[in-house]
Amino acid sequence: GTERDLVVVSNREPYQHGYDADGGVVVDEPVGGLTAGLDPVVQRTGGDWVAWGDGEADAVVTDEDDCVAVPPDDERYTLRRVWLTDDEVTDYYYGYSNRVLWPLCHDLVGRVEVEPRYWETYESVNESFGEAAAERATEDSTVWIQDYHFCLAPKTIRESLPEGANTVQFWHIPWPSWETFRVVPHAGELVEGLLANDLLGFHVERYRDNFLDCAAALDGTRVDREAGVVHVDGRTVRVGAFPMGVDAERIASTAANFDQHAWAHLAGTYGIDPNVAVAVGVDRLDYTKGIPERIGALERFWEDHPEWRGELTFVQKSSHSRSRIPAYERIAEEVTAAVDRVNDRFGTATWQPIVHVDDHLDQRELYGLYRHSDLALVSPLKDGMNLVAKEYAAAQVDDDGVLLLSEFAGAHEELDEAVQINPHSRDGFATAIHRALSMSTVERRRRMRSLRERVRDNDLDAWVTDVLDAASRDPEALRAGG
Ligand code: G6P
Repeated sequence: GTERDLVVVSNREPYQHGYDADGGVVVDEPVGGLTAGLDPVVQRTGGDWVAWGDGEADAVVTDEDDCVAVPPDDERYTLRRVWLTDDEVTDYYYGYSNRVLWPLCHDLVGRVEVEPRYWETYESVNESFGEAAAERATEDSTVWIQDYHFCLAPKTIRESLPEGANTVQFWHIPWPSWETFRVVPHAGELVEGLLANDLLGFHVERYRDNFLDCAAALDGTRVDREAGVVHVDGRTVRVGAFPMGVDAERIASTAANFDQHAWAHLAGTYGIDPNVAVAVGVDRLDYTKGIPERIGALERFWEDHPEWRGELTFVQKSSHSRSRIPAYERIAEEVTAAVDRVNDRFGTATWQPIVHVDDHLDQRELYGLYRHSDLALVSPLKDGMNLVAKEYAAAQVDDDGVLLLSEFAGAHEELDEAVQINPHSRDGFATAIHRALSMSTVERRRRMRSLRERVRDNDLDAWVTDVLDAASRDPEALRAGG
């Protein structure tokens, strides 16, 4: 495919400037998630990245056009910061994005909180981002919009996009059925907004099909499911499934360098006995991740299998997220309470059943933790993809770990050698933990080898190439089966 100029648009910025204790300006780089994944891509192609400037010192380092060259020590592309007022952050980010669209798309209609001002601000902030993106675009640009924060921005962008440029949007979270999506008052406008793109990408076919159902429900659209296109306003919008991958090679080499000695040191820091089996969970503290369910399953496991008390430690690495939303504050408290409950119940003078880590781990430590964990418990109630599952497999350079994966994660579609779990079934989950710990070496290696191979083949680069190739393809060729 042709590498065009990229203009990436995302809510989260790839570099954030802040102050250290002495008042000096420092920069935080992304670890994990989609911004970390896309940063090397934009470094390679050059171009622009438009994002919310939410760092304390962000404004200090940006020029009069709200731009700063990044990475700071090796300037490769332009970060264009969009400034948001406190009210905008409350209503657009904490409000419409994370109290309406996030729960809605994760099929949690009961958690949706509809407020008129959330919608109004979502509209105006989408316009600001859209204008900023269009300003940065040239006739050679592909504007690549990320995620659910920007359903309406493509409309603004289309109005002033230079001839020759195109737009693609990737939706990183699930897309629900029309029956669910239509619950929100502005459902039609949201779908219409997304249809202002040339290409729209989802992780898995089910989300794409759900979206096509929603598009078909609108007046004035014609959906060709076979070709994966929507005809609207005399234009053809392509809609596809492109499962995102991880930088498997870098993860593997980082994990490979994290030897037994480094692991013993890290384990020691957190009071983990490096000689017992270790299971790991890594999540943002989000109610979609199924963390209390996971802890409940472990509790059942230790109830049913007392021989594993003192022989398995569960390490939960959590990061605080969207804490100004009460539901997020509550889930954080709930996780802490569940950890304390299990530790009080089973813990001994020499063994702590669950180690809860909420310190920041750097990439070395994180991938090292993955490598040296015998099991990974990835149990979301619903998840667009879940990159932790893929990172864990990529880090298994010794091919001896077992991945337990929720059937409700997008990653489940690709990773069928994982031990499948239903996070809602405490007994089934507990049995799966036991089965994973008792699995023969031969079976463990066979499963992990093919998981690792799959993750390596469908890595981050492959994903970027797939999306951008599809974006530069002529829609008529696609209709003809090209
Ligand atoms: C999910 C979303 C991303 C988001 C990330 C972290 O993965 O798909 O768009 O950046 O969560 O959430 P936050 O609200 O902190 O950006």
